Amino acid sequence: MSTTAARRSSVAEGSTWARIGSRYLAPLLVRQFPPEVAFGFLGRVVPTDAEVDLVIEAYRVPANEALELVHRAKTAAETELAAGTGGASTAELEVERASADALGREVARRAQELWRVGIRWIASGASRPRAEAERLRLAGRLAELGFRTRVPQYEVAATLGPTGAPGGSRRPVGYWQTLPTDGLAALFPFADETVLEPTGVLVGLSLANASPVFLDRWGHASHSWGFFGTTGSGKSFAASLTALRTRWLRPETELIVLDPLGEYGRLVRAIGGTVVRPAGGGEDRINPLDPVTTAGDPNEKAGRVGTMLRALFPSLRDEEAAGLDAAVRRLYAAGGADPTFDDLLREVPRRAGDVGRLPALLEVFRSGSLAPVNGHTTLRTDARAVAVDLSGVPDDQMPFHLAYVLDWAYGRLRSRPGPKLVVVDEAHLLARHDATADFLDRMVRHVRHFQAGLLLLTQNPDDFLDRPSGRSLLRNLYATVFLRLPEVSAPAREFFGLSAAEAAWLPKARLPRDAGYAESLWRVGDAHLPLAIVASTPEFEFLRHNLGGGASSDG
Ligand SMILES: Nc1ncnc2c1ncn2[C@@H]1O[C@H](COP(=O)(O)OP(=O)(O)O)[C@@H](O)[C@H]1O
Ligand SMILES: [Mg+2]
Repeated sequence: MSTTAARRSSVAEGSTWARIGSRYLAPLLVRQFPPEVAFGFLGRVVPTDAEVDLVIEAYRVPANEALELVHRAKTAAETELAAGTGGASTAELEVERASADALGREVARRAQELWRVGIRWIASGASRPRAEAERLRLAGRLAELGFRTRVPQYEVAATLGPTGAPGGSRRPVGYWQTLPTDGLAALFPFADETVLEPTGVLVGLSLANASPVFLDRWGHASHSWGFFGTTGSGKSFAASLTALRTRWLRPETELIVLDPLGEYGRLVRAIGGTVVRPAGGGEDRINPLDPVTTAGDPNEKAGRVGTMLRALFPSLRDEEAAGLDAAVRRLYAAGGADPTFDDLLREVPRRAGDVGRLPALLEVFRSGSLAPVNGHTTLRTDARAVAVDLSGVPDDQMPFHLAYVLDWAYGRLRSRPGPKLVVVDEAHLLARHDATADFLDRMVRHVRHFQAGLLLLTQNPDDFLDRPSGRSLLRNLYATVFLRLPEVSAPAREFFGLSAAEAAWLPKARLPRDAGYAESLWRVGDAHLPLAIVASTPEFEFLRHNLGGGASSDG
């Protein structure tokens, strides 16, 4: 008994290991960092079952010394280049010189700083072979990521000694590395602590270490976020989860969903809202002729209605279009608060002269597929959640419906107090038409003045990168969330500043149907965070039951 106790507190040291009490420690040092560290690499290097400790020390290099260091690195590369010999290849030296140059400029403008960074990994185990095997596995995983490591020889005590500034403590040769701020930041699971916004909602758990990440949309200049991912990657689920959690924190938050596939009806009803379905079958109607969509301005409305109807009837001849415009203007001049298509049909023949095919064309509002929108707006003003279910709308009628629905949504955001969220699902449908794409861009830029934010969901960011309004829209999103993407195009990689490792990872991100949660990469400000989007059991049950097309979620 007494011998065991003595052994526990004793310390022994071999050439490459140490024993403290009954634990064996096998330290490992980094000799050289890879040029690019994969984000979240810590999670891959230290799986939760590995017995590995990591100690990182970082000391800032004073600015003048930093400039001097960078200058020396550049000169060294240039000298070697000029000599044309040396171990490194010319290409490598070119890169070194160019990056020293770029870094020099950043250090000079204080955009980056240099750090003296010391890193030691300490594998441990109940026996020496176990600790050493753990260290071997660790070295293997680090090598895969491009790290060069070394096992300290007869330097274990120096390696394991207490932390202390570079000059002050004795460390093995090569322990201290110089890294720019970016490089140091990559060593931490959180690159930027502003993304830990305790007043926000839970958006996910870090894939590196499972710590929760909160974001507060209301605390930023833009309240809008984008979600990009292939079908089945979990966009609609993530947006719904976000909306539920937002309302949980701020129950007064109003919700509007533009729902091309008809997936949100049950969810919106379950939280006390209502569904508008232009193809018929919803409980409420938005009258496309209702001036409420232009904040009650009948002149502006008359103009918009003209455009809308010409989109619906592209074959209109000039005199028919003129006849229609005149009828629309008379309709609003008559001062009706909320004229219907029946009223318009009555107005058309009042014009002297030939009205051509107008009555026949407009008949679609009386007895055809557009009859569901012929009538007064029925939306209760107290409805705090509205889904506009666009499923069942024929392709050629989509621009017509989008035109007044977007007007209506914008008018509603503008006129109602309090926080509002707008979910725009399958947004590529809107990106396809110039008018609606421009509209979305304006919406993202302006709605924050009305305390509103968009959640924009689409399958591929390239849908928006193609045109200037789309790029503007993407730039104005506070957070961009990438779920599984089949591939990341070069323009998308460049636009979003994704690293090669990130672009290579996204096609492999796990899908919710395999993992039970969605793997994602969140780009928030300068930070890139790999997160698991995880629902609690009640949230999952609620969404599983209420989100999705009629048949699929019945089971
Ligand atoms: N974070 C998640 N946790 C658990 N299940 C999820 C999650 N995200 C999505 N799912 C499930 O995966 C399926 C596809 O999700 P969905 O949101 O419809 O994908 P998308 O909108 O990208 O096509 C749905 O059945 C959904 O319930
Ligand atoms: Mg979806």
